Amino acid sequence: MPTAQTPSIFDPVSSPALAIRELSFVVLGLSAVIFVVVAGVAAYTLVRFRNRPGDGRREPPQVYGSTQIELAWTVVPFLIVMVLFLVTARYIYGIEGRAMPSDALEVTVVGNQWWWEIRYPRLGIVTANELHVPVSDPARPAPTFITLQSVDVIHSFWVPQLAGKMDLIPNKTNRMWIDPRVPGTYVGQCAEYCGTQHAWMLLEVIVHPRDEFDRWVAAQQTPAVADPAARAGRELFLSLSCINCHTVRGTPANGVFGPDLTHLMSRRTIAAGAARNTPEALRAWVDAPGAIKPGVLMPAMKLAKSELDSLTTYLLTLR
Ligand code: CUA
Repeated sequence: MPTAQTPSIFDPVSSPALAIRELSFVVLGLSAVIFVVVAGVAAYTLVRFRNRPGDGRREPPQVYGSTQIELAWTVVPFLIVMVLFLVTARYIYGIEGRAMPSDALEVTVVGNQWWWEIRYPRLGIVTANELHVPVSDPARPAPTFITLQSVDVIHSFWVPQLAGKMDLIPNKTNRMWIDPRVPGTYVGQCAEYCGTQHAWMLLEVIVHPRDEFDRWVAAQQTPAVADPAARAGRELFLSLSCINCHTVRGTPANGVFGPDLTHLMSRRTIAAGAARNTPEALRAWVDAPGAIKPGVLMPAMKLAKSELDSLTTYLLTLR
């Protein structure tokens, strides 16, 4: 997997983010002109009208009620604000007005305290915290349209190199789209304070070349394979309340409150980026989730060491 990019809005790879950078430069440019004019006039005034020897305490002439001056400092800023408003509105409509082509990839991202559920309704895939999409060649666009929902509080989906922030609001559906042009891994995170573990609600968008994406889809669509070497762990998993919250396709586990575990080991991190997905971290996570992520909804199951081992062995087979 390529290394993740630095999440900067000045390094965009997707149309909405490119538009946002363009707009940022317009606003920064205009602000720079205003800054230079205001700071220049202030500096000029400080030097030109400084207190010289012999001036004493006499005040310079005071100007009151000049219609010309008052009009100038009202009308000019008003015009500047109007320009900023109109330019911004044009960019917003340009991004939000894009209609979804019929062949676009549709993804639903559901915010949870504190992880992202990622569903591909047309492909029958459910995963978590890592959004996989195909690269979009401007000659052959393959945009991804994202539907945003929340099951609890307000979250915000933000991957700076791909698009602007968009909130995930309970009982309201928001939409956004991306068309990443360069394969790679782009990092993002929840951008709206949503509780104690808000800072550990990380997100990765993995942009694949088309054939690689198709392979990923095919792998994710397969149900979990029952590995005979992990039979004890599998039976233990299915006997515990794990299955009330987690789904493993191909088994009776069909809970929907926690992340789908069918292809758990295909993910780079666990707990929305709070830990790398290694056997040791996975075991520690199952043993005491709250030690890694205080406040997490997943309970510590108070398992014996041997049970932990066999459960971890089973989880490692979910590739
Ligand atoms: Cu979810 Cu902050």
